[in-house]
Amino acid sequence: MIEPVRIVEVGPRDGLQSISQPISTENKKTYIDLLTEAGCPEIEVTSFVSPKWVPQLADAKEVSALIKRDDDTIYTALVPNKIGLETAIDNQYQSVAIFTAASETFSQKNTNASIKGNFERFEDMHPLWKETNLRVRAYISTCWVCPYEGDIGAEAVIKVIQDLIDLGIHEISLGDTVGKATPDDVEYLLNIILDNWPVELFALHMHDTYKMAAENITIGLGVGIRAIDSSTGGIGGCPYAPGAKGNISTETVVRICHEQGFDTGINIDKLKLAGTYIQSIIQS
Ligand code: HMG
Ligand code: MG
Repeated sequence: MIEPVRIVEVGPRDGLQSISQPISTENKKTYIDLLTEAGCPEIEVTSFVSPKWVPQLADAKEVSALIKRDDDTIYTALVPNKIGLETAIDNQYQSVAIFTAASETFSQKNTNASIKGNFERFEDMHPLWKETNLRVRAYISTCWVCPYEGDIGAEAVIKVIQDLIDLGIHEISLGDTVGKATPDDVEYLLNIILDNWPVELFALHMHDTYKMAAENITIGLGVGIRAIDSSTGGIGGCPYAPGAKGNISTETVVRICHEQGFDTGINIDKLKLAGTYIQSIIQS
């Protein structure tokens, strides 16, 4: 039997959050619908964060109401706090992503709170996501390198993972926010993590600033990781990570997975249509 890899398409959120030109709600809807038609198993549609912090996604409610939802696709929204979680629930999400970091400075710049402060927000959200039976994935940004502090030690990542697991998080996505992790760095940290926890808990979220992401996800696949975040056309970056480029492209991840004999469920021709569409909007 062919083993599946679940690709988490983050282009509509991570991709579009850092594109300075305005993208219309209708264009976002069309892009997300094309991703659904391509068979993406999970799409991170948008974020319910402060529109003052990320004005690009200020139409999150409108986008969420307009998109076509397919029963075979998980639609996820990124939320930073209880206001965001409540809004996600009101907008028909059964899956949300929360986020924190292994670096204190990045956490402060991205969320106006320390890592401990992020966990206080998670504690505040916890009863509601339990009561509503939501699926919750969590990002840990800057698992290898922080744009402000430089190299991050494994012990900082391990501490955040343990605290997330104590909260009952369903999946933890390990972020190379600035794309500076080398394959050796990735292998080193994954070996430590997987000595302690089951591989099924983890996803990789690699930005591709220095073109190491393909090799890095190959290492992840090699150690058993079966959930990979990516964005169509490799668009995006984080507005609070200066210099960071987009995620590894979904087209590249699909190609690597299919070459290695994994099943992604994604139709590559239809995916290319989605990629061409959003790139034509961004460049127009
Ligand atoms: P704050 O200013 O400390 O928030 O920001 P606050 O609680 O003091 O509230 C200030 C105002 O924001 C209030 O409104 C709140 O109602 C409002 P006012 O009274 O001034 O009119 N507010 C909200 N509005 C809408 N939705 C909300 C919300 N919360 C408060 N959820 C906050 C704290 C967390 C809100 C802010 O820092 C924020 O929104 N940060 C998000 C930044 C962000 O989205 N970054 C990019 C995503 S993370 C990423 O890209 C990394 C990742 O891809 C992984 C990787 O690559 O490493 C995931
Ligand atoms: Mg990211």
